[in-house]
Amino acid sequence: MAAGARVVLLGPPGAGKGTQAKLLQDRFAARQISTGDILRKAVAEQTPLGKQASEYIRRGELVPDRLIIDLVADRLKEKDCETGFVLDGFPRTIAQAQSLEEILKKTGLALDCVLSVQVPHKLIVERLSGRRTCKGCGALYHVVFDPPKAAGICNGCGGELFQRDDDREETISNRLRVYDNQTAPLASYYRERGLLREIDGVGEVEAIGKRVVRALG
Ligand code: AP5
Repeated sequence: MAAGARVVLLGPPGAGKGTQAKLLQDRFAARQISTGDILRKAVAEQTPLGKQASEYIRRGELVPDRLIIDLVADRLKEKDCETGFVLDGFPRTIAQAQSLEEILKKTGLALDCVLSVQVPHKLIVERLSGRRTCKGCGALYHVVFDPPKAAGICNGCGGELFQRDDDREETISNRLRVYDNQTAPLASYYRERGLLREIDGVGEVEAIGKRVVRALG
């Protein structure tokens, strides 16, 4: 992966986008931009955006494009994106993908690659229902696949681990439906533009990390 690379991670909920984006950020200084994390912070702080987004997130629906697109456009202008970025959870609709193209074009930039991480739906419920996230630093754990050393406590910063509200089984089913209907069509969109590379997302985190790095070239 070249310095300054601009990458999109595509994949269903629980595919491991956040996990792999963090590895890429550590390894290549390409900033992880997670729209889910930005929205959850806005909800926790009860900002106007958070108040508008919270009900959509709770139901597992997509937040309207108009709320997300400007947010990403502003985020990409920040200095830390100059050394490249990994978009995790954006774009999720064709309209978002078209807007991203426009946003980058304005500064003479373009995406280098879209990595589609593929995991069968049956594995996803298992991954999401066991996910725990650190309140302090955002580190990800899994109660079975990657448990913390002390239950409920982050290995890195000692922060408290929590379970996301949208990781309940009925919401997970809706998130998967929404993914199939609204986000999966992005694979063809990016394939037609010659940007799509597909990764098998089943296996150990490190093995998948190697596949990701190989696909980035
Ligand atoms: P968002 O936060 O983006 O959620 P998501 O796309 O549903 O993806 P997840 O974060 O659930 O999964 P992931 O693929 O990152 O997996 P992870 O690495 O955590 O979005 C949440 C909501 O915000 C949306 O529903 C929507 O409402 C809204 N939203 C966000 N962006 C939006 C947008 N652009 N437009 C409109 N609305 C938007 O891994 C999952 C678990 O599996 C972890 O516990 C991890 O430790 C474990 N794991 C990872 N890899 C492996 C492995 N190889 N083996 C075993 N376990 C593994």
